Amino acid sequence: MITSSLSNDERSRLLRAARDAVKRAYAPYSKFRVGAAVLTVRGSLFSGCNVENASYSLTICAERTAIFSAVAQEGGENMRIRALAVVSENSSACAPCGACRQVIFEFGPDAIVIFQGPDGLEEMRASELLPKGFKSQR
Ligand code: THU
Repeated sequence: MITSSLSNDERSRLLRAARDAVKRAYAPYSKFRVGAAVLTVRGSLFSGCNVENASYSLTICAERTAIFSAVAQEGGENMRIRALAVVSENSSACAPCGACRQVIFEFGPDAIVIFQGPDGLEEMRASELLPKGFKSQR
């Protein structure tokens, strides 16, 4: 199922939620604060921020925090991503990392992903961001 394109209202709701979530980031080590928001196919909005740890590798990105919150609150088997936005503080470029691309792909290969590129906001489908993403055979 290819998701229909985003309305201006959906885009601004997503970006507002992601920008709001940046304020709650816990990034004392990198000082790189990130916020994300997920719009589900059912129409609910969930946000998340990056959460770092003194044991650095335990850090989780804003995108996965938002997606896992959506799963926890909407139901793992049913939650499908219609669109996701990710923003960093100070509008520096922040495309989703490879791990987050795979997690976005799991819940919405057709999802529209909005992120800050080097020259401003960009929009791409999850399957464009992660060509040939892994799909379980089970
Ligand atoms: N980070 C995210 O939250 N999302 C991304 O797409 C890229 C990186 C976070 C992880 C870490 O807390 C900080 O940014 C620096 O890498």
